[in-house]
Amino acid sequence: MSYPRRSALAAALAGAALLLTSLPASPAAAAPLRPVASVGAAAAAPAPVTTKPAVPKPLRDPRNIGVLVNKTHPLKPKSYVPKGHVRVQGQRLRAEPAAALKKMMRDAKASGARLVTVSGYRSYSTQKSLFARYTRAYGATYAARISARPGYSEHQTGLTMDVGAASGACRLGACLGNTKAGRWVAKNAWKYGYIVRYPKGQEKVAGYTYEPWHLRYVGVKISTAMKKGKIPTLEHYYGQVKRR
Ligand code: DAL
Ligand code: ZN
Repeated sequence: MSYPRRSALAAALAGAALLLTSLPASPAAAAPLRPVASVGAAAAAPAPVTTKPAVPKPLRDPRNIGVLVNKTHPLKPKSYVPKGHVRVQGQRLRAEPAAALKKMMRDAKASGARLVTVSGYRSYSTQKSLFARYTRAYGATYAARISARPGYSEHQTGLTMDVGAASGACRLGACLGNTKAGRWVAKNAWKYGYIVRYPKGQEKVAGYTYEPWHLRYVGVKISTAMKKGKIPTLEHYYGQVKRR
């Protein structure tokens, strides 16, 4: 495992922090309000109380588009199979992410960045074979840095698509991030409810090396919150690591 579980102590501290941030910012602000009649019209308004937005609790139901799946949060159940799927260039996805992806691919093409689908929904058994193949090729340690174990892959949710450049350049390679396609995706995917799930420099948090191709659908509400809040990973979003 590449990042610590959230301990009971950490949870208690986070709870305490939340409590603190919801308290008034100064003793003046904490003073009870005097009756309106005794306060002059020019009386200063109470100091504004600044609170950080509450950290959402990680969603665990794989039917939910906001589900958290990582090395410490497997699919529940591990044998989960999404109900229904559609195909995007032969790769399977659930209907909502598929519609969003098609729109994204149309807009990318109009901007001169032609995308193709590389790998969408993968069943438990497909992931099992894939992980075994990586283990044979690279050894268990490296395999675990680039591939999820069966029951732990976002691909099994039907909410994830690996994409590539239509040219085939840097297919499933970190250099995709430097191509027109990769740059377009990094800049624009959030508008369609997608996030680049394994950004550069976040292996310790997200669990895997940089994957500029792995797009996870979380819906525009979450992707927009992450974009606007400069939240780099879903783990940060769900308070699994300290927010910056
Ligand atoms: N490559 C990603 C981590 C997966 O196997 O789901
Ligand atoms: Zn992927």
